[in-house]
Amino acid sequence: MARSAVCGAAFIVVLLCVLLTTPYVINATITCGQVVTLLTPCIPFGVYGGTVPPECCAGIKGLNDAQNTTEDRRTACSCIQLGAALIPGIDYDRINTLGDRCGSPCPYKVYPSTNCSEVS
Ligand SMILES: *[C@@H]1O[C@H](CO)[C@@H](O)[C@H](O)[C@H]1NC(C)=O
Ligand SMILES: *[C@@H]1O[C@H](CO)[C@@H](O)[C@H](O)[C@H]1NC(C)=O
Repeated sequence: MARSAVCGAAFIVVLLCVLLTTPYVINATITCGQVVTLLTPCIPFGVYGGTVPPECCAGIKGLNDAQNTTEDRRTACSCIQLGAALIPGIDYDRINTLGDRCGSPCPYKVYPSTNCSEVS
């Protein structure tokens, strides 16, 4: 358990470092830094399951409020996809249930094969 916590913390640090320095902003107002901040509390659920932390649902709602435009949704989709790819053991089916579990459905699903340029 302690070991998982240490590894989890290390993944989050790597994720933050990579995404905060990724200039992934096109015309959107949302940034990968914001997406990471909002969704970091969801990482333990995405890897280990269990109950969804309230901070995670707050992040999901915040994300859905922030991704108002097509560009925002495409950017956020790419950020989530890039971030999730850095987390060993992430369960895509599980993270794609978060919108419904939190009562704030995400307008797209994120899988490694998702083409975020086609999100509308
Ligand atoms: C998204 O829309 C809401 C309400 O329409 C607005 O308050 C908010 O500022 C918008 N967010 C962005 C990032 O444009
Ligand atoms: C993603 O979709 C865009 C727009 O339809 C297309 O131009 C692009 O080639 C697609 N990328 C991949 C990897 O399929």
